[in-house]
Amino acid sequence: MKIFLDTANIDDIRKYNDMGLLDGITTNPSLLAKEGGDPHAAMEEITRIIKGDVSLEVVSTDYDGMMEEGKKLREYGEHVVVKCPMTGDGLKACKSFSEQGIPVNVTLVFSANQALLAAKAGAKYVSPFIGRLDDIGHTGMDLIREIKQVFSNYDFKTEILVASVRHPQHVVDAAKIGADVVTLPAAVLAKMLGHSLTDKGLKAFLADWNKLQSELSNKA
Ligand code: E4P
Repeated sequence: MKIFLDTANIDDIRKYNDMGLLDGITTNPSLLAKEGGDPHAAMEEITRIIKGDVSLEVVSTDYDGMMEEGKKLREYGEHVVVKCPMTGDGLKACKSFSEQGIPVNVTLVFSANQALLAAKAGAKYVSPFIGRLDDIGHTGMDLIREIKQVFSNYDFKTEILVASVRHPQHVVDAAKIGADVVTLPAAVLAKMLGHSLTDKGLKAFLADWNKLQSELSNKA
């Protein structure tokens, strides 16, 4: 399963990229706004650091605007995936970009039917937002299971990019279902990395080692 970081924070991107954990990045207008500063400079920097797929989202809502914006976003690099919203115009743009060999991530997907339509339009990725479904009392992960079944029934090549991830258990569940990608806030990735028993075990190893060293130096 590929791991993307869902952020526009350059420090977090560098930190986890240096650990070799990142296969790509997803951003959205809210994440760029959260960081403040010039969003174009941030997008340029992100695409410089990350060599895998970087999803950059259009903010136009009409077909012509999305096409124009998407082409500009691609100037940051061949690895830019144009992120289009799950709307009629978004799907039309998805079809045109895909026919030109430009990969598209269809975002704001909340049903298996939307995922099916995005796949028909040639999307490289569909982004179902599971946390936001959980927030309104649904079980977001059920959607991942459904999309997985639909895509395998018809052998769609579109990848399921699990988005709006809130906690590490989401990642385990997505991996068990066989989702292609999870995009994670840095806080979720940090929680996946750590375990209290790892910290406790390491502390004990070091204490035992130091004890041995002082016993040896007392004997010398
Ligand atoms: C995905 O591409 C989105 O940027 C993101 O996962 C949305 O997550 P949120 O519901 O936490 O805003």
